[in-house]
Amino acid sequence: MTDLASADYFTDGEIAQSPFAYFDRLRDDNPVYREPNYGVVMVTGYQEVVEGFKNSDALSAVNAIGGPFPPLPFEPEGDDITDQIEAHRHQFPIFEHMVTMDPPGHTRARSLLGRLLTPKRLKENEEYLWGLADEVLDEFIDEGRCEFLGQYAKPFATLAITDLLGVPAEDREEFRWALGAGERSGTRVGALDHEPVAINPLEYLDDRFAAYLSDRRRNPRNDILSGLATATYPDGSTPELLEVVRPATFLFAAGQETVTKLLSSSLRVLCERPEYQKLLRDDRSLIKPFMEESLRFDSPTKVDFRLARKSTTLGGVDIPAGTIVMLSLAAANRDPRKFEDPNEFRLDRRNAHDHIAFGRGVHTCAGAPLARIEGQVTLNRLLDRMEEIRISERAHGPADDRAFAYEPTFLLRGLVDLHIEFSTTR
Ligand code: HEM
Repeated sequence: MTDLASADYFTDGEIAQSPFAYFDRLRDDNPVYREPNYGVVMVTGYQEVVEGFKNSDALSAVNAIGGPFPPLPFEPEGDDITDQIEAHRHQFPIFEHMVTMDPPGHTRARSLLGRLLTPKRLKENEEYLWGLADEVLDEFIDEGRCEFLGQYAKPFATLAITDLLGVPAEDREEFRWALGAGERSGTRVGALDHEPVAINPLEYLDDRFAAYLSDRRRNPRNDILSGLATATYPDGSTPELLEVVRPATFLFAAGQETVTKLLSSSLRVLCERPEYQKLLRDDRSLIKPFMEESLRFDSPTKVDFRLARKSTTLGGVDIPAGTIVMLSLAAANRDPRKFEDPNEFRLDRRNAHDHIAFGRGVHTCAGAPLARIEGQVTLNRLLDRMEEIRISERAHGPADDRAFAYEPTFLLRGLVDLHIEFSTTR
C-alpha cells in the first residue's frame, strides 16, 4: 500500500473528504514536512503553524489562497526574493485583495476595514441578525425538514454581510440571488482541478459597490456606505475609489462560504449528539464554548499558504527563499501536543478557545467577531424554534452508517449539503 505521506494532497479526492489521517501521518513524521509532489512544505503542528503565521517578515502572503497553483511565475533567485515577488505580484490570484498583500500595503488596506467593523456597527448588525434568522427560518420551518446550507446558512451569511456593509434594504434580495446564496456555491477557490478562481462573484460586487460609493462621495448621506466612501488612511490621505471598494467586497468572499461551513458543521454535531441539544437549550451560555469547539474540530479554512520571500527557519527546519509553505489550521487544531484527545468533540474542553481557525498574525480574520455572533444567533434560534433536530436518514443513511459529502477543495472544509428533520416548538 502506498504510504499516505507520498499522496498528492492537492488532487486526492479521498483526502479532501477526510484529511485528518493524512495530516496526522505528516505530523508524526515531522510537523514541518516537505511533500514529494510539488515540494510544498506542509506545516501541521500547532506551535509551528502559529510561528509561520507570525513570521510575516520572511513569509509573504502573496500566494495565500492558491498555494502551488498556478506555479510561480518566476524562478526564485537568492536568499531574498522580495523584489521578484513585487515585480510579479499582479500574476497571483486575487492580488488586489488584502489577504494576499504584505505590509506596508496590507496595513493600509486593512486600516480601511477599521471604519467598517466598529463595535457600534457590529452591535447594530447583531440586532439585525436576530430578526434575519427568524425571517430565513420562516421560509421553511413549517415543512419540518430542510437542506440546511441552501435554505438557511448561505442566505443568512450573505444577508448578514449585506447589512454590515449598509446595502440598501431594497437591494438585498438581489445580492442574495446574484451571489448564489439560494442554491449554489459561488467560488471555486482551491478546487481539486486546480482552477484557482474560476467564477468571480467579486466582479459583480466590485461594480455594485463602486456605484454605491461613488454616489456617496458625490452626495454623502447619514449611512454606512457614506462613512466608507469618505474613509481616509491614517495619514489623512484619501484612497482611490477602488481601494475602498475592494475591502468592502472582499468581506463577502471571506465571510460567506466560511460561515456557511461553520454553521453546518456545528449543526451536524448537534444532530448527532441529541444530549447537547438539551444541554444547550437549558443553558444558553454553553453555546459559546460549543461554537469554539466546532471551530477547532472542523476548521472551515483547512489550510493557508505563504511564500518564503527570505530564507528562514520554521520549527527548526530550513526554509529557503522561494519555498511554498502550507500552514494547516485544521491540522494544528487537532495537534495532540496541544489538544488532548483531539479527534473527540468535547464541550468541556478547557483550551478549545486556543484554536487557530481564524489564523494568527497580521492577517488574523477581520470577521471573527461577526462569524462568532452569526453562530451564536443561529444556534439560539434553532433551539428556540426546533426540537428533536435530526439528520435525515433518507439523505444521509442510518445512524450507524452515515454518508456526508464534503466539498472537493484543498483549501476549505465544508459539507456539500446537510438534510435535517425536526419538530417545531409552537
Ligand atoms: C467561520 C468563519 C470564518 C473563518 C474560519 C475565517 C477564517 C479566516 C482566516 C484563517 C483568515 C486568515 C487568512 C490568512 O492568514 O491567509 C481570514 C482572513 C480574513 N477574514 Fe475570515 N474567516 C471567517 C469569517 C469571516 C467573516 C464573516 C468575515 C467578514 C465579514 C471575514 C473577513 C476576513 C478578512 C477581511 C480577512 C483578511 C484579513 C487580512 O488579510 O488582513 N472572515 N479569515
